[in-house]
Amino acid sequence: MRSHYCGEVTSKDLDTNISICGWVHRRRDHGGIIFLDIRDIRGICQVVVNPENKLAFEIADNCRNEFVIKVSGMVLTRPEGTINSNMPTGEIELEAENIELLNKAVTPAFPLDNYQDVNEDVRLKNRVLDLRRPEMNHRIVTRSKITSVIRNYLEDNNFHEIETPILTRATPEGARDYILPSRVHPGSFFALPQSPQLFKQLLMMGGFDKYYQIARCFRDEDLRADRQPEFTQVDIEASFVETKDIISTGTEMMKLLLNKFVNHQIEEIPALNWHQSMEEYGCDKPDLRIPLKLVEISNLVANEEFKVFSGPAKDKESRVVALKIPNGNSLSRGQIDEYTKYVGKLGAKGLAYIKINDVNDLENGLQSPILKFLHQDTIKSLVENLDLQSDDLLFFGAGSNNVVNLSMSSLIKKIGKDLNLYTCKWAPCWIVDFPMFEKNKEGNLTSLHHPFTMPKSSLDELVDSPESVIAEAYDIVLNGYEVGGGSLRVHSPNMQEAIFKALNISDEEAQNKFGFLLKALSSGCPPHGGIAFGLDRLVMLLTDTANIRDVIAFPKTQSASCLLTEAPNSVDENQLEELFIESTYKEEE
Ligand code: AMO
Ligand code: AMP
Repeated sequence: MRSHYCGEVTSKDLDTNISICGWVHRRRDHGGIIFLDIRDIRGICQVVVNPENKLAFEIADNCRNEFVIKVSGMVLTRPEGTINSNMPTGEIELEAENIELLNKAVTPAFPLDNYQDVNEDVRLKNRVLDLRRPEMNHRIVTRSKITSVIRNYLEDNNFHEIETPILTRATPEGARDYILPSRVHPGSFFALPQSPQLFKQLLMMGGFDKYYQIARCFRDEDLRADRQPEFTQVDIEASFVETKDIISTGTEMMKLLLNKFVNHQIEEIPALNWHQSMEEYGCDKPDLRIPLKLVEISNLVANEEFKVFSGPAKDKESRVVALKIPNGNSLSRGQIDEYTKYVGKLGAKGLAYIKINDVNDLENGLQSPILKFLHQDTIKSLVENLDLQSDDLLFFGAGSNNVVNLSMSSLIKKIGKDLNLYTCKWAPCWIVDFPMFEKNKEGNLTSLHHPFTMPKSSLDELVDSPESVIAEAYDIVLNGYEVGGGSLRVHSPNMQEAIFKALNISDEEAQNKFGFLLKALSSGCPPHGGIAFGLDRLVMLLTDTANIRDVIAFPKTQSASCLLTEAPNSVDENQLEELFIESTYKEEE
């Protein structure tokens, strides 16, 4: 239908006849002459319609925003003074000879020609319109390019793309399953995969050596800005590999993506031990662009009268940390109160602080509501241990490990952003040496990664002291987001059974749920391991948005529904009958 894309008409096309197709982005009537900006996926071209051309003029006159048209005509230089050097097509305009109205459009729910922040619900309800915005067009197209670069990289490295089932049984990745009733087997259910974890392991046992898949995963979990119930993994598995091999594959892939999509070159990706990461950043996904670290001061304050500090300092499951904000003295009382409220929402009981006005005068040069509770010696040690300087600010977190880690790691990220403390644009890192297990609220062991992860210890050590066992597991983190995670896998049935036992899964339950895996493990299983990258999160970071919904064409809301199609929705009674399903749900009055 067209000879050119709108965004690609330039002065090299001057004085030639061309045709373009697209949407009317804007229509301006300049006293007798009509200007139409026509938009397609590659950009915008200005069309000028003279009244002498009656037929074209009449159509242009009736055109409204988002009408779909085809314009043919001659490419001309824009008159002097009207050249727009900000646009690739800003030097030319298309003089319309012929305009064809391809389709009309109702008045758009929000303007695209003068787009300002529109409520996200309105955008999601009118997603078709929203996707036409150049910003959204660009993100979704970049996603496709990123996927293509990843595919090529993996294909070049001899990974085979293999599909795994969507209708399957539960795959434990820590979230709730989405389940689907079977009509043919009344009372039985499929689960949608939380990841292809077990299938990719079975493929290794099936001899495929290197597998990948751009895999859709489903998790019924609490949603956040970087989580969707349905998301995509770049899922990878390989046989006869060690941790360093998977880390090297992941590093090369990340280097390629940073280079190609944000023009950033890196040599290596540093690796941080999980314990060190928790101690220094309070989390296992630190944003290493921010040069702020927690310093453990439990030993320093264990004997203070100040119970807020000495209580947690003496408790094994608690900690007291200090966070130095260099030059943070300029924070106002109001800002400190805001941060106190912020950590309060994350469970912290307070946010003690000391302002260092003059580090050479510890008597009068400090300012804080807690000075009266601390010994001079303790303050002196703080100054030395944290290398405090005049104009620094110290924050303190005291309480259970969980609360201090969550609140102080979030505070680091918030202050880093608020005060723009970033030292670089891109800071990937690997987190390694995760513990195998953690205790849940009920005091039972659960897998930190998943139950198929290989321990670094022997079977005996795993049985004797499971809590101190380290896993052959690793995550890759970019700018404070976990963008991938994986592990070496258990390849011996005995070890797998011991892990199920540690997790309090009975033999019967293990056979029932994972009998097929145990059988395959005993049929000649190669040592193997892998990783899965969160594609949505990668695209989100590489296209500079903090909202995962911006990189998914048709995402779900925070409450896991699709505003465009209004899914999930009720179904016919007879459909339910066929499935032997009756709802017990009663609408609240
Ligand atoms: P894991 O559960 O760590 O590992 O998931 C891998 C990566 O997937 C991304 N991710 C998500 N992205 C968006 N929305 C979600 N709800 C969501 N959940 C996870 C994250 C995460 O790092 N089978 C293992 C991988 C393996 O061991 O090889 C797994 O699924 O970026
Ligand atoms: P209070 O004795 O509760 O008035 O607290 C004195 C100071 O300690 C205030 O600045 C509080 O914000 C701070 N504070 C209280 N509890 C904690 C805590 N768990 N961690 C850090 N600071 C705290």
